[in-house]
Amino acid sequence: MSVTETGATVWLTGLPSAGKTTIAYELAGRLRGDGHKVEVLDGDEIREFLSAGLGFSREDRHTNVQRIGFVAELLAANGVKALVPVIAPYADSRDAVRKRHSAEGTAYLEVHVATPVEVCSERDVKGLYAKQAAGEISGLTGVDDPYEAPESPDLRIESHQQTVQESASALHALLTERGLA
Ligand SMILES: Nc1ncnc2c1ncn2[C@@H]1O[C@H](COP(=O)(O)OP(=O)(O)OP(=O)(O)O)[C@@H](O)[C@H]1O
Ligand SMILES: [Mg+2]
Repeated sequence: MSVTETGATVWLTGLPSAGKTTIAYELAGRLRGDGHKVEVLDGDEIREFLSAGLGFSREDRHTNVQRIGFVAELLAANGVKALVPVIAPYADSRDAVRKRHSAEGTAYLEVHVATPVEVCSERDVKGLYAKQAAGEISGLTGVDDPYEAPESPDLRIESHQQTVQESASALHALLTERGLA
């Protein structure tokens, strides 16, 4: 009889340039090194394929998060650590994903990458904050579009006060504590 690996979804929510993708890939490397099966469902890739055609209205952002949540749950239910570095600005969208997981008995952790907007706009990896400031785009999460910060995440990461490695270690420790890694 083979031992079944416990899967889990780890959703990293936070503002653009908060560090979600960076931390997710650092954690993914460590988990793979430990022998776990891992998938990273990154926001940008998903929007190119699974959510192609969706925009950034409230409704489309909600649909995007529900689709990703659906796929993450399927992966997690089959022994994969599904790491999801996706903004997911609305609390009700995130709650619906959590409920889907609990209905299926699948582990779900919400991680708030709580980098302040001032730090994110300095990092500005994709140049979005500069474009918004120049009036070239609008609807930027945390600036002129809503971001509803999680009230009680499983973990809050202060990425402006620690290194990527420290953030990944904190997340890895949480997974271990919950019996998931
Ligand atoms: N402690 C830290 N944790 C995470 N990222 C950090 C940290 N310090 C500096 N950075 C840098 O901040 C940037 C974060 O960019 P990243 O693409 O991970 O953000 P994101 O949250 O995925 O944004 P988006 O929502 O636009 O995809 C990277 O360039 C990363 O190297
Ligand atoms: Mg990202």
